[in-house]
Amino acid sequence: MTEHRSPDTRFRTSLLEENDGPATNLTDNRTMGEIIAARFSRRGFLKGSLAVSAIAATVSPLALITADNARAGGGSAFTFDELEAGIDDKHHVAPGYDADVLLRWGDPLFADSPEFDPTKQSAEAQAKLFGYNNDYVGYIPIDGSAEHGLLVVNHEYTNPHLMFPGIVKVVEKDGKKELEVAPLSKDQVDVEMAAHGGTVVEIRKEAGKWQVVRDGKLNRRITANTEMALSGPVAGHDRVKTSADPTGTKVFGTINNCAGGVTPWGTYVMAEENIHGYFSGELQEGHKEAANYKRLGIPEGSYEWAAHYDRFDIGKEPNEPNRFGWVVEVDVNDPTSVPRKRTAMGRFKHEGAESIVAEDGRVVFYLGDDERFDYVYKFVTAGKFNAEDRAANMDLLDDGTLYVAKFAEDGTLEWLPLVHGQGPLTAENGFASQADVLIGTRLAADLLGATKMDRPEDIQPNPTTGKVYVMLTNNSKRKTEQVDAANPRAENAFGHIVEIVEDGGDFTATKGKWEIMLKCGDPSVAEVGATFSTATTANGWFGMPDNCAIDAAGRLWVSTDGQGPKATGRTDGLWAVDTEGDARATSKLFFRVPIGAELCGPLFTPDDQTAFVAVQHPADGGEDWEAFGRPSYYEDLSTRWPDFKPDMPVRPSVVAITKQGGGKIAV
Ligand code: FEO
Ligand code: CA
Ligand code: CA
Ligand code: CA
Repeated sequence: MTEHRSPDTRFRTSLLEENDGPATNLTDNRTMGEIIAARFSRRGFLKGSLAVSAIAATVSPLALITADNARAGGGSAFTFDELEAGIDDKHHVAPGYDADVLLRWGDPLFADSPEFDPTKQSAEAQAKLFGYNNDYVGYIPIDGSAEHGLLVVNHEYTNPHLMFPGIVKVVEKDGKKELEVAPLSKDQVDVEMAAHGGTVVEIRKEAGKWQVVRDGKLNRRITANTEMALSGPVAGHDRVKTSADPTGTKVFGTINNCAGGVTPWGTYVMAEENIHGYFSGELQEGHKEAANYKRLGIPEGSYEWAAHYDRFDIGKEPNEPNRFGWVVEVDVNDPTSVPRKRTAMGRFKHEGAESIVAEDGRVVFYLGDDERFDYVYKFVTAGKFNAEDRAANMDLLDDGTLYVAKFAEDGTLEWLPLVHGQGPLTAENGFASQADVLIGTRLAADLLGATKMDRPEDIQPNPTTGKVYVMLTNNSKRKTEQVDAANPRAENAFGHIVEIVEDGGDFTATKGKWEIMLKCGDPSVAEVGATFSTATTANGWFGMPDNCAIDAAGRLWVSTDGQGPKATGRTDGLWAVDTEGDARATSKLFFRVPIGAELCGPLFTPDDQTAFVAVQHPADGGEDWEAFGRPSYYEDLSTRWPDFKPDMPVRPSVVAITKQGGGKIAV
């Protein structure tokens, strides 16, 4: 039996999501700041404030011009009336719009699904109901329609203290009241496993409102137990063989699917992110996977799955973690298809996998590794996209080149290939094959000298402008001597957004240019150093960019993770951000979430008439919110969103935002 743990560690909050453990990139690769400092020192330039001098000298002229334009401040190009920032227990959208809850945790997805009963949860029921903590949202049109399609949704993780009745108890300790959390039963772990993964569900807009097609023939739940195949260079390798799978090709389940993507050929890709939390136990002394697992923080052990399933105990099944941390591709056209873990795209804490077809027909996926001091990647397929023949594209993701980004201080960028035998990626350095490079992607990228970033989250190519946006959510651990041009703030609490332009506008290019589009945080506090335009109102600024979307008009929308009473005095939400012209770096608040939640998703339908957003982990927290002021758990929730019924717990949900009377979301 697991020991009772204090709520601080037992409450699986967004702290894990924020990767708030020790940073795992312990290489002594110098940060760009150190390299610049050394260079400047040699020239005898540096006296006094080292970091500031170095950075000031490295801001690109283009960035300075842009900042001047922003300060000159045209108004926002978005015409909606801005929502007021704030904190309460409900969701809010800008005036003139409806924000309707479309899918809640526990909603039935099949004709034979049971109705949701939170007091009688079972894995069998959960596997037929919408899962927990919706994150990525994608839309795959049926017959090209913007009003009838498949919604694909990731279910990233579970919050037992919000999901299960009766597991949190108030106890007296030394005269003080404390919360104690019981260990989960095997049945509850099974529910957790069934609440993970993803959902594919048919939806249709009728009379201006989206409806779930409950008996849609392509509806599907994917869970932590769904059979999947390992494909690409790692399939069948010794390092992915386990006692249950001596072939190294068959895996059960996908976990911690954060963001993702929809491919140009209409498949659903799910990115496996914080896999370290699911593994417990200890490797045998001197085990060959020790360095690999240390670099990923495995095992972190915040889930109790290993208590019931040996495969999550690395002492018993040491190769199982190598079978997670991949990008998973799902063919949504066949609900019995076996999802494939596409190992050519590397193994790390994958945030998302947004893609674009390059001019020559190859497909480029932008990939963030969400951890402090980790890297930005892209994957370029070897083959070309065939728009006429869907089947011809189905194994494009098994063959291609994975690159990691090196951001130079002069505003240029190099994509370094992670190819076995090239540069330091050789047997002498522990990489005997391409499979070794991919299983140990972070270690390989360390050797190449990639740039350590402030937690890369969603990365979105913009097909209209050809630019690429990188959300860097924050990095409170970056020290002054570690700042560099691409990560210019020490103790970067609020994050920033980097804009990339690939050379020649070619997404497959191995070189490009970059600049910082926006440093986030409250611009009225000078020390924060935020760079929102002066046209941005007190409601319009934000911190902690996480997911983002480009609408059909080519405009950027950013959703956030980690704001709240203490951090920014506002909940997370969705902001419309100008990137072009005088209005660049002007931001406006469009939607905000109830207390405790982060906002995931955002996604626009092809006609721009609907924005889908995913409200994740509502009610996770309440201590810092004056109106509540205590930890929130099943029996005492900071919000019962979205039902607000006393017998219904808080439920993470997908919300469909439409304009009242119809029309595009924002013209
Ligand atoms: Fe799951 Fe990187 O957020
Ligand atoms: Ca995320
Ligand atoms: Ca996105
Ligand atoms: Ca996040």
